[in-house]
Amino acid sequence: MADAAWVREQAALSLGRVWPRLAARFEEQAAASREAWQAFEARLRREWERLFGLLVGLYGEHYDFFYHLEEILAAAARSWLARPDWLKDLDARRETDPAWFQSQRMVGGVCYVDLFAGTLAGLREQLPYFKELGLTYLHLMPLFEVPEGNSDGGYAVSSYRRVDPKLGAIDDLAELAREFQSHGISLVLDFVFNHTSDEHEWAQRARAGDPECRDYYYIFPDRTMPDAYERTLREIFPTVRRGSFTYREDMHSWVWTTFNSFQWDLNYANPSVFRAMAEEMLFIANAGVEILRLDAVAFIWKRMGTSCENQPEAHMLIQAFNTLARIAAPAMLFKSEAIVHPDDVLSYIGPNECQISYNPLLMALLWEALATREVKLLAYSMNKRFKLPHGCAWINYLRSHDDIGWTFDNADAEYVWIDPAGHRKFLNAFYIGRFERSFARGVPFQENPDTGDARVSGTLASLAGLEQAIQAGDEQLIDLAVRRILMLHSIILSIGGIPLIYLGDELGTLNDYTYAANPAKAGDSRWVHRPLLDEQRMRLRHDPASRPGWIFAELTRLIRLRKQQPAIWDGAMDVIESGNPHLFGYVRHNAGQRLLVVANFSEQPQELDGNRLRVYGLGYQFTDLITGQACSADAALRLEPYQCVWLEVKP
Ligand code: GLC
Ligand code: GLC
Repeated sequence: MADAAWVREQAALSLGRVWPRLAARFEEQAAASREAWQAFEARLRREWERLFGLLVGLYGEHYDFFYHLEEILAAAARSWLARPDWLKDLDARRETDPAWFQSQRMVGGVCYVDLFAGTLAGLREQLPYFKELGLTYLHLMPLFEVPEGNSDGGYAVSSYRRVDPKLGAIDDLAELAREFQSHGISLVLDFVFNHTSDEHEWAQRARAGDPECRDYYYIFPDRTMPDAYERTLREIFPTVRRGSFTYREDMHSWVWTTFNSFQWDLNYANPSVFRAMAEEMLFIANAGVEILRLDAVAFIWKRMGTSCENQPEAHMLIQAFNTLARIAAPAMLFKSEAIVHPDDVLSYIGPNECQISYNPLLMALLWEALATREVKLLAYSMNKRFKLPHGCAWINYLRSHDDIGWTFDNADAEYVWIDPAGHRKFLNAFYIGRFERSFARGVPFQENPDTGDARVSGTLASLAGLEQAIQAGDEQLIDLAVRRILMLHSIILSIGGIPLIYLGDELGTLNDYTYAANPAKAGDSRWVHRPLLDEQRMRLRHDPASRPGWIFAELTRLIRLRKQQPAIWDGAMDVIESGNPHLFGYVRHNAGQRLLVVANFSEQPQELDGNRLRVYGLGYQFTDLITGQACSADAALRLEPYQCVWLEVKP
């Protein structure tokens, strides 16, 4: 790796050479919008050294490096000049308020366009619903052109520039983004950049033998290389096919396919791939995306003899993409999707890499604590691992379109006297109905016959016990299930970061087993928790006597409450020692407000000692903001089954 002084020197030299060429190339456009061009130049100069260092580190050995460098900058310039004015205004606004996403007013939602509203036009009509819920962030699941039939829920992209015609067109997307932004809702889209579908133009050309496009992927004539790599690879989708490579009859070759066989991994060791994907990224940015979800970040760089996950170059690539975004689409933030070991999750988070990240550890451990009724692993892990670098935020979620994997750290588990392997087995059994006294109705995902590993599918409500309780017709069990659902939400709404609601969960949507009858979906149990929007449920939301209405009313009340608490600004949070194995608690304080949150993970009432209330709450008299009830540190605080309190000191 080149040293810093050398990079500085060479960066200056290269900019001196490349800038006049760029200025000449864009002379006309620059003259037409002088101010915009100057802003571009200023940002490029500011970010240049970092960008140059990263690109030299990744591609400096290529004889044609300078050509790629120039083309990458030209792409950035082109994209900036084409950036719509409303986004340039947003860029300026965000630059003066870079911490905007740390606000307690932030609340996220995620949905599929087709399943939620049919088309993009239909989705625009749902704007009042999103506002009623209080969303300020809307993640639309992949909506670009994909192959017919199985497309991994849109994650096999055939074009990053054309919207799936069944949903609408790219202009509909851009208009939606603008309209939603004017109502305070930021658009979030995926950048599925680890792989394309086998129908992407590049893949088609590779199939036809085009050598340049073959180099966009990992294509091997025989098993020699695949066998050598597979010695150290993890299998991600073992029920799709064993190993990570797919034999293509039409090419007489093996193609690297980490996920489904029709998802071809891109070869980022090739600078042309980085350049091409950078152009696609900037195109997506200009459609009005404010937060870009970087899909499957862990897998983007391969190195023989390793797991080919979380390689140092993966970080350099993301940082290089990030720097380009800083230059040509500065309002856009990156969100990392790394569902891996907690140390690795953290490694992607930073102001220069991904400012935002899913928090798969909190998600998994909330379910873990629900199953065991004990919070020791949750409390220990959050105490150790919740803190993020300045300027970064967690996305806290309970369910997503994906499965649940038990990604906690083994040593953390052992520290609290839990056998990690046995515990994972228990959790799988608990959530997929192989543990007799479980309340959950989940379905196994990707069980590996060799290792016995599995992950879990299921909707929030079904995993939290509502499905089973309704079938049993037992009002008491229904009550407990709804309490679980609300308690989990009370935590992600108050712990710090952006809470993300998997739309449908706000109405208590249950598992949908009809996927098993659809050949394009039957092999992938994640469809059990990707149901069509249930209009009946949605209509019931204003009827508090109904179950959907009960959940919806409580959840929207919690959301409104969150938005009024300055203490929830930013991610700083201190886990408390509750002294009760069933109580998880933490303190938040900011702008003169202090909140003590305590949640009961058992179906029995539990007590928090009065002394601890005083010590952590820093007071004697408190109000629970959720129920409005008063309590005093003179006595122990009693929490009902699955109750969560947000205690504020009484002035
Ligand atoms: C991400 C997505 C998942 C998809 C995979 C391959 O993990 O969340 O749904 O299967 O990437 O794109
Ligand atoms: C694996 C991957 C993760 C992906 C998931 C999809 O867990 O690590 O990125 O979301 O598979 O099921």
